[in-house]
Amino acid sequence: MNKPAKRIGILTSGGDCPGLNAVIRGAVKSSWQLGYDCVGFLKGYEGLVDPVRYLSLDPKNTSGILNQGGTILGSTNKGRFAATVGVQDRVELDPRLLDGVQRTVEQLGICGLICVGGDGSLAVAQQFHERGIPVVGVPKTIDNDLSATAFTFGFDSAVACATDALDRLHTTAASHERIMVLEVMGRHAGWIALHSGIAGGADVILLPEIGWTFEDVCHKVLHRESQGKRFTLVVVAEGAELPCGNLVSKENGGEGQARLGGIGDLVAQEIEKRLHRETRTAVLGHLQRGGPPTTFDRVLATQFGAHAVRLIVEGRLGEMICYQPPQIDSVPIIEAVNHLSQVDPNGAAVQAARALGISFGDHPADESPFNIFSVAEESLAMAEAVTAEALEVS
Ligand code: F6P
Repeated sequence: MNKPAKRIGILTSGGDCPGLNAVIRGAVKSSWQLGYDCVGFLKGYEGLVDPVRYLSLDPKNTSGILNQGGTILGSTNKGRFAATVGVQDRVELDPRLLDGVQRTVEQLGICGLICVGGDGSLAVAQQFHERGIPVVGVPKTIDNDLSATAFTFGFDSAVACATDALDRLHTTAASHERIMVLEVMGRHAGWIALHSGIAGGADVILLPEIGWTFEDVCHKVLHRESQGKRFTLVVVAEGAELPCGNLVSKENGGEGQARLGGIGDLVAQEIEKRLHRETRTAVLGHLQRGGPPTTFDRVLATQFGAHAVRLIVEGRLGEMICYQPPQIDSVPIIEAVNHLSQVDPNGAAVQAARALGISFGDHPADESPFNIFSVAEESLAMAEAVTAEALEVS
């Protein structure tokens, strides 16, 4: 490939999610509009070095991918670049790897490399930046756990998938008068569980951010029965700790982060043991990461792709695109990684859920937690103050 005057590189790293192809398409189309050409490295950072593997990307070969799940470039959360977990607990990359990456970038004449990834992958991008390799970051993950951005693309699609599953479980749970437990992903953040639980009409939502007990979960089931409701829907986040404080995880083959999963079955077994009610588990797993992105994710991912190109053109290297509604903005990558965004136990969504009677397993179902309406009371007080002031003025 000839070395052009202006070339942008792009790669997708870490676990995939719906919307990656929309970012690639958005970046390629906007690069070409501005007179840049593009190459896409294969299998995340792996394609950058020994052996270098890339595709030339143009508006033609990225046409028609906007609505496709996965990534045409491939991705991995394993391999030579996966040892780096975050910034505070970071593992330095092998300097020979960094030399190799720098050589590739120089030889191909890349003026900016768009790294699309989650926390771990962006921490690698930060090390590239410190080494003088021209990078910008684009945040992606179904977990929505990056604090610098209000939303990551992929999250809305995962929530839509989990909500659809709850809709389906609802009818079969009602027909058989059963308790259904749905385990969803999200790692150490409960966003997918909280949002799908609210959207799918769950009765109990168990999150990593709110401690819970089996007594209170069972109490909710019995409370519903006392109201004539003979089925219950429970959503549990894979990263919700058991009451004893343990996380439930699977073998991970010794590479990368622990693989969470299995809590759904434990919750179902315990409910069945305590209440002698038929209980079933559904584990959504990677279904949440597949399939077409939702409209919201397509729009967000397309904007992220286009704005990442803008950062490179403006020379704002070492920054990560973020969504701070209504703006698409950017922050230094170093500030963006390693700050986990978790559900606020006193936030508006949790309070609204509690106000509806959804249980978080942290108190008996017939006792209201003290702070349900604190947000509503504050807003009311504020509205009264504004009205009083308006009356005074008039
Ligand atoms: O970070 C995205 C995520 O899907 C998590 O929600 C989940 O715990 C993990 O990745 C699964 O990873 P893997 O694809 O390696 O099984």
